[in-house]
Amino acid sequence: MYKKKIVRLAIILLPLSFILSQCFTNNSSIKDDPRGTNYAGSATCISCHKNIYKSYLHTAHFMASGPASDSTIRGSFAKDSNEFVFNPHLKVVMDKRDSGFYQTSFVNGKADQSHRFDISFGGVKGQSYAYWFTNELFQLPVSYECRVHKWINSPGYEPDRVVFERVVNTRCLDCHVSYIKSAKPELPGFYEGVEGYEKKSLIYSIDCERCHGPSAEHVKFHTDNPGEKKAKFIITFSSLTRDQKINMCAICHSGAGNRMLKPTFEFKPGDTLAKYMVVNNKLPLDYKNIDVHGNQKALLASSKCFIKSNMDCSTCHDTHVKDRDMPTLYAGKCMTCHSSDSHIQCKLTGQLSSSMLINNCVSCHMPAFPSKTIVVGQAGAMVHTHHIGIYPEEAQKILTYLKTKVN
Ligand code: HEC
Ligand code: HEC
Ligand code: HEC
Ligand code: HEC
Ligand code: HEC
Ligand code: HEC
Ligand code: HEC
Repeated sequence: MYKKKIVRLAIILLPLSFILSQCFTNNSSIKDDPRGTNYAGSATCISCHKNIYKSYLHTAHFMASGPASDSTIRGSFAKDSNEFVFNPHLKVVMDKRDSGFYQTSFVNGKADQSHRFDISFGGVKGQSYAYWFTNELFQLPVSYECRVHKWINSPGYEPDRVVFERVVNTRCLDCHVSYIKSAKPELPGFYEGVEGYEKKSLIYSIDCERCHGPSAEHVKFHTDNPGEKKAKFIITFSSLTRDQKINMCAICHSGAGNRMLKPTFEFKPGDTLAKYMVVNNKLPLDYKNIDVHGNQKALLASSKCFIKSNMDCSTCHDTHVKDRDMPTLYAGKCMTCHSSDSHIQCKLTGQLSSSMLINNCVSCHMPAFPSKTIVVGQAGAMVHTHHIGIYPEEAQKILTYLKTKVN
């Protein structure tokens, strides 16, 4: 109750602080990349890397965050499907107005709080949203589940309370945006852990330079020397050690439970993780407890495939293309090491037709389990374990299923 009053008070104060912040930001040039002059901005890459750029726009990394709009928000605003009902007295309604899309809570039929969808996160398995309040960022109470196409109570929220006050901290943004600059919170002290940001410094998505590092010199050199076909002034992937290659991904894919030393926006290929975080190696590796915010690096590293080969994440993933739900594509990667010529093949070779094998390497050896956080009723988004191994129970299920399909 106390917090709600403060939010209302703050809304009255808002116009003044808004006008002030406009005055301060109008002078700055928006052409410069907010990360500094050594960054070119990913839009500049398109002129020479057009195919990569175009396919990248369909990837989860591009969707990791974006401005909330008709084209990004996946949930429905149609009259019959724009509500999330907590209980007979409490619901949240999603509606479209001239000024944008809103979530409004209703207590016993009376409108209570209302905030706009400003930022959307994700859209593959699930989608969550945030709204700006002064220069602070808060999560909206209702999220979206993509598999069953339903609005849901935001992951980790209490089942019978509408919460508009959950702070979106730098940690969320570390993994879901390319950059944001911190600032003093304009309304400090009201919320635990509140952080302020310079709104205009926000760079959405996991962009080219978030993975490849600052590239302004690379762009300048190749623009001035169009005849040069060898990459200059950019960190080449092949020059990295295996650990460095994996850390390009592990900076965001080693789970959310690590002790952070500083924001990760400055991380570039070749850096050590230890500068940014103390990785919690005790994260549960139990394959039934994996989740979207799980630790793919540690799970993979615990697999025999990993220990006895030189594989890294890009052995299987081409991060420039959308490559999910393509079991045969991944089977092709498995077969580079487990083909019929290699000494280590599936034990079921001969027992199953080769197409049955190929279609199901992943289901039997990297099975998917329901997410614990993105949940609807009994179901939820499915997440694959990266501990490649032998799962007799899962294999049996697939075998039984394949038999019923044949008969
Ligand atoms: C004026 C042309 C030009 C622009 C603009 C440009 N590049 Fe390149 N880039 C090249 C050339 C030429 C190569 C070498 C041939 C190749 O790999 O395509 C290259 C190679 C690369 C490589 C491969 C390095 C390796 O591992 O061998 C990366 C990564 C890269 N560029 C990233 C970027 C990014 C990120 C941007 C935008 C910020 C960008 N480039 C903009 C010309 C350009
Ligand atoms: C800056 C953080 C960051 C880095 C670096 C990063 N990822 Fe991701 N990755 C994410 C986020 C966030 C998502 C979820 C995006 C979404 O669905 O909204 C994701 C999603 C994925 C997915 C799921 C794709 C899908 O279609 O569902 C794969 C696979 C993946 N990343 C692999 C990699 C690999 C491989 C690397 C290293 C080459 C890498 N990531 C580097 C943050 C990162
Ligand atoms: C350690 C990095 C990390 C942090 C911190 C993190 N995320 Fe994620 N998030 C990811 C990755 C990686 C995925 C994709 C995993 C997958 O596809 O299974 C993901 C998935 C998601 C998804 C589902 C996306 C989709 O397309 O299915 C949403 C929504 C999301 N995160 C929101 C948040 C919010 C909100 C926060 C802060 C409270 C947060 N994340 C913190 C890395 C992170
Ligand atoms: C999630 C991290 C990630 C993002 C985002 C990303 N890349 Fe890459 N990129 C990689 C990795 C890893 C490799 C090395 C792949 C390999 O050699 O197996 C690579 C390789 C490259 C190469 C050289 C190899 C090739 O495929 O031609 C170029 C050029 C390149 N990236 C450009 C870009 C551009 C341009 C963008 C933005 C549109 C971009 N990358 C976005 C991770 C990323
Ligand atoms: C870069 C090579 C490489 C790739 C790619 C690869 N593996 Fe392996 N895998 C190995 C090696 C090496 C071993 C260990 C063999 C040994 O014990 O000598 C192994 C072991 C295994 C085992 C036995 C695990 C255990 O705990 O006993 C399974 C199952 C397996 N791989 C399945 C797969 C599947 C499925 C894929 C694709 C999703 C895959 N592998 C991709 C190299 C690879
Ligand atoms: C042996 C092959 C292989 C390697 C190596 C590998 N992955 Fe994956 N990864 C997969 C498969 C298969 C999927 C499931 C794709 C799908 O949904 O069809 C997957 C899915 C993912 C997802 C989405 C989660 C999900 O289950 O939907 C993320 C995130 C991811 N990988 C990150 C990584 C990172 C980071 C690394 C390196 C530490 C890595 N992967 C290495 C095979 C691999
Ligand atoms: C229906 C489930 C199923 C499918 C599909 C399947 N496997 Fe297996 N695989 C198993 C089981 C179960 C074992 C262990 C059998 C045993 O040890 O008796 C195994 C064993 C293995 C091993 C270890 C062999 C050894 O000598 O230790 C490898 C490697 C392997 N599979 C790779 C693959 C690859 C690659 C594919 C896809 C082409 C695949 N598997 C498809 C169930 C499956």
